[in-house]
Amino acid sequence: MSISIVGGLEDIMSAMEARCPAVAAHCRRVSLYSVRLATQYGLDAETVEAIRVGGLLHDLGKLEVPPRLLDKPGRLTEREWHRLRRHPETGLALVDRLGFGSRVAEIVLYHHERFDGSGYPDSLAADHIPWPVRIVSVMDAFDALTSPRPYRAALSFDAARSLLAREAGTRYCPWVVAGLLSLPPALLRPGDSEPSHHCRPDGCPSPAALLNATQAWNRHAALADHGCLAATA
Ligand SMILES: [Fe+2]
Repeated sequence: MSISIVGGLEDIMSAMEARCPAVAAHCRRVSLYSVRLATQYGLDAETVEAIRVGGLLHDLGKLEVPPRLLDKPGRLTEREWHRLRRHPETGLALVDRLGFGSRVAEIVLYHHERFDGSGYPDSLAADHIPWPVRIVSVMDAFDALTSPRPYRAALSFDAARSLLAREAGTRYCPWVVAGLLSLPPALLRPGDSEPSHHCRPDGCPSPAALLNATQAWNRHAALADHGCLAATA
C-alpha cells in the first residue's frame, strides 16, 4: 500500500494517529524521552530539535506496513519479517519527499542499527552510528519493552532497564544506556517533568566529543546511497 501525506509535522502525526494510533503514541513517547536524554547530555539546540523530529518520525515507514502484520499476535513469517524490516527505508523516502533534512533522515533510516553491527539496514556499528541515532534507538527499545505487544505483556520499568543494561556495549551504545539509567524515573514516563540540569554519566565524553565522534562518517554519502535527496542538498 502506498500512502500520501502532505503538510507539516503535526499533519503527519495526525495522519499517523488516524492510521496507526499505537505507532503514533510510541513515536511521541520515544521523541519525548530522547529529547530529555539529549538535554541531559547538554547537546546543542539544533541537535536536540533533529532528535525531537526524528523521534516523532522514526517509524513513519510503518504506515506502509499492513496493520494485520503490525498487530499479528504470533511469530512473523520470513516474508512478513522482510516486509517489516523495510520500514526504515520506506520512512526515509517519505521524510526525504516531505523535505526534512539529513539529520532527521539518518534517525529514520538507522534507528534499527545496533552497536555491535547486528542491526539493519546497513549493519553500521559503534562510531559509524551517529549519536542522535543511538539516543533514539535506545529510547525506541526502552519504550517497546515497556509497552504491551500482541505477542507479549509489557516489561516493568526495572526489568526493561536491566535488560538494556545487560546489552550495553553489545546491542546498545554503553554511554546512551548509562545515560538512560541515570535519568530520574519520572523522565521516562509521559508527563510534564522536564530535566532541570545536565548530568552525563561519569566519564561520558563532552557534548562536542559525542557529536565529533561520528564526524568521520560520511552521512551524506551513506544517505545518498539510499536515494536520499536531502543528503545532496
Ligand atoms: Fe522502527
